[in-house]
Amino acid sequence: MSKQINSLMMRMTPEEKIGQLNLVNPGIFANTGAVVTQDIDGKIRKGQVGGLFGYYDAALVGKTQRLAVEESRLGIPLIFGLDVIHGHKTIFPIPLALSCTWDMPLIEKSARIAAMEATADGLNWVFSPMVDIARDPRWGRIAEGAGEDPYLGSKVAAAMVRGYQGDDLSRPDTVMACVKHLALYGDAEGGRDYNTTDMSRLKMHEYYLPPYKAAVEAGAGSVMSSFNEVDGVPAAGNKWLMKDLLRGLWGFNGFVVTDYTSINEMTCHGTGGLKENSARALKAGTDMDMVGECFLTTLLESLEDGSVSMDDIDAACRRILEAKERLGLFDDPYRYVDEKRAGEVLSEDSRAAARDMAARSCVLLKNDGPLLPLKKEGTIAVIGPLADDKRNMPGTWSIASDWTQCVSVLEGMKNAAGAGVKFLHAAGANFTRDPVLAERLNFSGERVLIDPRSQQEMIDEALKVARKADVVVAVVGEAQEMSGEAASRVDIGIPQEQLPLIDALSKTGKPLVLVIATGRPLTLVRECEQAQAMLLMWFGGTEAGNGVADVLFGHHNPSGRLTATFPRHVGQVPLYYNHKNTGRPYDGAKPAEKFKSRYLDVENGPLFPFGFGLGYAPFEYGPLRLDKTELQGAETLTAAIAVKNAGDCAGEETVQLYVSDPVASVTRSVKDLKGFEKVFLQPGEEKDVSFAVTTEQLMFFNGDLQRVWEPGEFVIHVGRNSGDVQSASVQWKK
Ligand code: BGC
Repeated sequence: MSKQINSLMMRMTPEEKIGQLNLVNPGIFANTGAVVTQDIDGKIRKGQVGGLFGYYDAALVGKTQRLAVEESRLGIPLIFGLDVIHGHKTIFPIPLALSCTWDMPLIEKSARIAAMEATADGLNWVFSPMVDIARDPRWGRIAEGAGEDPYLGSKVAAAMVRGYQGDDLSRPDTVMACVKHLALYGDAEGGRDYNTTDMSRLKMHEYYLPPYKAAVEAGAGSVMSSFNEVDGVPAAGNKWLMKDLLRGLWGFNGFVVTDYTSINEMTCHGTGGLKENSARALKAGTDMDMVGECFLTTLLESLEDGSVSMDDIDAACRRILEAKERLGLFDDPYRYVDEKRAGEVLSEDSRAAARDMAARSCVLLKNDGPLLPLKKEGTIAVIGPLADDKRNMPGTWSIASDWTQCVSVLEGMKNAAGAGVKFLHAAGANFTRDPVLAERLNFSGERVLIDPRSQQEMIDEALKVARKADVVVAVVGEAQEMSGEAASRVDIGIPQEQLPLIDALSKTGKPLVLVIATGRPLTLVRECEQAQAMLLMWFGGTEAGNGVADVLFGHHNPSGRLTATFPRHVGQVPLYYNHKNTGRPYDGAKPAEKFKSRYLDVENGPLFPFGFGLGYAPFEYGPLRLDKTELQGAETLTAAIAVKNAGDCAGEETVQLYVSDPVASVTRSVKDLKGFEKVFLQPGEEKDVSFAVTTEQLMFFNGDLQRVWEPGEFVIHVGRNSGDVQSASVQWKK
């Protein structure tokens, strides 16, 4: 325990201690709910504020910090946070896209650059990584995480924390991470944001909790609790979640902040009034109250009537002061306030990294012909509402981005193609014609402008352009705010308004490439029949257009692999690769069979499975080789496979290892990802990829919630995606 904090706390009044628990939002940028706080400056002077968020710029931060340091009684510095989710000023692809790189050093680098830029803007705390496992693409916030798999999600979570925090939080270019949202937020029923969730402890531990735990183990300094309830208790007031699990079992010693007005919202959830919920939240392990000022307005009274103790308040206050100490703010409250660093943002290097990440996040879904890569000749029509769009390139949660700095796909293609190509362009469709929807999509600035021409007029113009071209590239999909927070959809196809355009283009007989912007898996059955090639670009950030063009023209051989399943139909949702077998699995062998776990009107399987992605070079796999088929205890199994680049361009393959446990005391999923290896191969080159499998990869949570492995048969699968593997069995004895 730090002497400095001890002596400070001895001088603090209960009011000042409660003040440290108050996180306020000045209401300039990140308003995802009501802005409650009035007279922030006055409150800072009175020691009633512990930190601010939704606020950046070194000069502004410096001015506010000075108020706290010079004009409050004890001069305790503030922390300054922001939702820096996928880059700060230089915007990288949305997290779901970045996860498709399966490239941890690259993901860590994105967080490192974000930390540099954020601190150059006065910040020392970021509300990231968001590590909620999501199996339901109706939920718009699937865009913010790493998809459906806990193993990959845990790797990404740890990489992000390392990138933000480095190995020394007090460095002026590192920030404190805030892993969110504890817990299970991604399982909102029906995919409707903020909705209830309810799941077994077994499912939590096996599939949903691992990424939070991984972020904690990587040293995340803070945790944000979620909006939803867990086991019938809203997360912000859930003692099991914060005290027993997070602090007790996982050993977390940082601080916990609520989500936006979460304590106030407990009343709507149905657990009583503000005062009792605030006391409950504090006693359950909440340290900081985001926006709601519930602690500020009720805790003193609760202290007096005994519903909270001074120890409860002290514990929370101490954790916040400790975070400030770790950030080095007591040594120098202005450590992160250096106006001379303004030039560090959007540097050439950061933009180059963003371009590389944008290219590496793209997932090639289809390439008949092969139509891609495009030749740098002839006439290319680049059509669609996203074809020459900069406004939507950043993607959701890009608060500090400036869309005018972004590169559109058309612009990127022009940059890449040189003088030999003639480009034609037409928008061809609106995102929507509904002004009310447009207003919601434009809450953070104008993303969606409605072209007043009729749908037919726009299509006619596009067709005129398409007919003059040798190849048509249609850039279609979601506007950036169609995914993200409070952006749930039940129709997870390409927005309706664009469908007649795609139909019309496909009937021209011109080769058609669909480049698809989206923040979630989409249903693309019809488009898959209509287009010769489909490239998923997600939302690629500042350099989106250049990154996509690098892929389209073959400067980069596409290497992204899906981290969330693409269903055929929304009715299959939730659809994920690591599902249970059931007692009546359907294997496709007898289509007339009735009493099986299947639909009458759609196949069980996905359109594109977890781990899927094509490239421009075919990779050939040799047979799976296991060095043993019988093992005992601590022995190591080696699973090896030869991978050859049989194409004529260099490329990267992601070889995936899955394990299944067909006989266990509790049912297990059909397979679970347990390893992956990225290999870069020159044309004709072959490499052996091998995985060491130990009992660690065989472990799971049993009925007593103990993590164990149970001797017996295991199946080892190695392959190019979750639906395309080679498998072999081993017997593993105790
Ligand atoms: C979101 C959080 C975010 C917070 C602060 C909330 O609405 O759920 O992810 O960090 O707002 O902006």
